[in-house]
Amino acid sequence: MGKQPSAWITTQQKKRWPLMILLLLSLSTLMAFLIRSTFDSCSNGSINNVGNFIREGQEEEKGGTHHQVNHNDEAPTPNPLDFMKSKLVLLVSHELSLSGGPLLLMELAFLLREVGADVVWVTNQKQTESDDIIYSLEHKMLNRGVQVFSAKGQEAIDTALKADLVVLNTAVAGKWLDAVLKEHVADVLPKVLWWIHEMRGHYFKLEYVKHLPLVGGAMIDSHTTANYWKNRTRERLGIKMPETYVVHLGNSKELMEVAENRVAKRVLCEHVRESLGVKNEDLVFALINSVSRGKGQDLFLRSFHESLKLIQERKLKVPPIHAVIVGSDMNAQTKFETELRNFVSQNNMQGRVHFVNKTLTVAPYLASIDVLVQNSQARGECFGRITIEAMAFQLPVLGTAAGGTMEIVVNGTTSLLHPAGKEGVMPLSNNIVKLATNVEKRLTMGKRGYERVKERFLEHHMSERIAKVLKEILLHKAKRHSES
Ligand SMILES: *[C@@H]1O[C@H](CO)[C@@H](O)[C@H](O)[C@H]1NC(C)=O
Ligand SMILES: *[C@@H]1O[C@H](CO)[C@@H](O)[C@H](O)[C@H]1NC(C)=O
Ligand SMILES: *[C@@H]1O[C@H](CO)[C@@H](O)[C@H](O)[C@H]1NC(C)=O
Repeated sequence: MGKQPSAWITTQQKKRWPLMILLLLSLSTLMAFLIRSTFDSCSNGSINNVGNFIREGQEEEKGGTHHQVNHNDEAPTPNPLDFMKSKLVLLVSHELSLSGGPLLLMELAFLLREVGADVVWVTNQKQTESDDIIYSLEHKMLNRGVQVFSAKGQEAIDTALKADLVVLNTAVAGKWLDAVLKEHVADVLPKVLWWIHEMRGHYFKLEYVKHLPLVGGAMIDSHTTANYWKNRTRERLGIKMPETYVVHLGNSKELMEVAENRVAKRVLCEHVRESLGVKNEDLVFALINSVSRGKGQDLFLRSFHESLKLIQERKLKVPPIHAVIVGSDMNAQTKFETELRNFVSQNNMQGRVHFVNKTLTVAPYLASIDVLVQNSQARGECFGRITIEAMAFQLPVLGTAAGGTMEIVVNGTTSLLHPAGKEGVMPLSNNIVKLATNVEKRLTMGKRGYERVKERFLEHHMSERIAKVLKEILLHKAKRHSES
């Protein structure tokens, strides 16, 4: 989880799903949930779905592979990226790590490999991750036919010159252009697509982005972020953005498979709740983001505390509510984390607030909670992938009215929005109480969110959107070429 929270499930982890399910899904569990028909958070399917539970369960065990029985399969349609077949694409990543940016670029690498493009990957920055992680990520790419070159070698320069398309990932990757291509920069710029996922002040440095005006195009994850970049590059740096395309992200197929597998979800839910000490009938509100002030965990806990008071004062009949903060990293944010923990103990909420260390496998948590809280402050999230991931799991979202969140959710239908900052504390606590007291509303919102994901935030939607942009860049390059 970095700038872009992501539920990427790595190959190893994916392979572990069926295994985990086999281990955990003993016959007794199966019997227990077939017999139990009362409502609890781990089984929000109706009894009519029992047939599906069994079929899916058997499928898992028989095949041993992760096979999903999908009743909504559409007729096979041509892959929108087919025109990229045999095209040479160079992907320039600022780093190779488990954070959102690089993982998203890897997803693009695999989408391009699927249609038979030649894909070369270079990593520009010095590695911060452990050798194990780097090795496993590189290995994964090599397995899928992505070539991995050194960012600074002659191979990288030759590839850039030959390539049909060069994708620079994040603003920081701009440093690679001058450092490596040197006198060739101008030749390469027209075929560069710059994919930008960040919205923080320190990225607006000429050192990173001075070549922006001359690249083939910029691709940005949300309209808010695109507008922000347009404004800031002009006001701060006096440069003009190139043709800019907004491309909303989509959920990976792996995530959707878990989200749509009731057996897997149920098993994960019971497992995670047990490990947190939360009962199946309790209600869980979770914020899943790297812990930092910008992500608003402090304000969320204040709201949560207010909700507990409201419930007590009004003597509302609701199941015990819990707050889960997934994304803790005591070493990185010691002061802020200490502040959060002090707040919890001062207000005697230890039994109601749970901290979970930073993790990439967010699916188990999404399977276990009742409501996602997206409390990113100030300009909000650039996009906020966790939001569409939660909606895939049929979760309602309580979000700040800011940034990418506004482009994903529908206020009042899939979500309830509150303002960022201190003035959002009471509205958020009221919304927590609203969803805690109204099961029907909560479930309906979750379903509407899921429908919205199926309509516009799946991998194939993202592929279609990206395909349009890549076509434009290839055209743009051809035009430049014929002019010169
Ligand atoms: C553009 O940026 C300037 C300062 O950087 C700010 O004052 C202004 O409000 C911004 N405009 C928009 C439309 O965001
Ligand atoms: C969480 O991380 C901290 C250090 O950052 C570590 O001490 C602790 O054992 C971790 N907890 C779990 C459950 O892994
Ligand atoms: C969301 O809907 C609520 C209820 O209709 C409304 O009070 C609030 O202003 C809306 N927020 C935004 C940002 O549209």
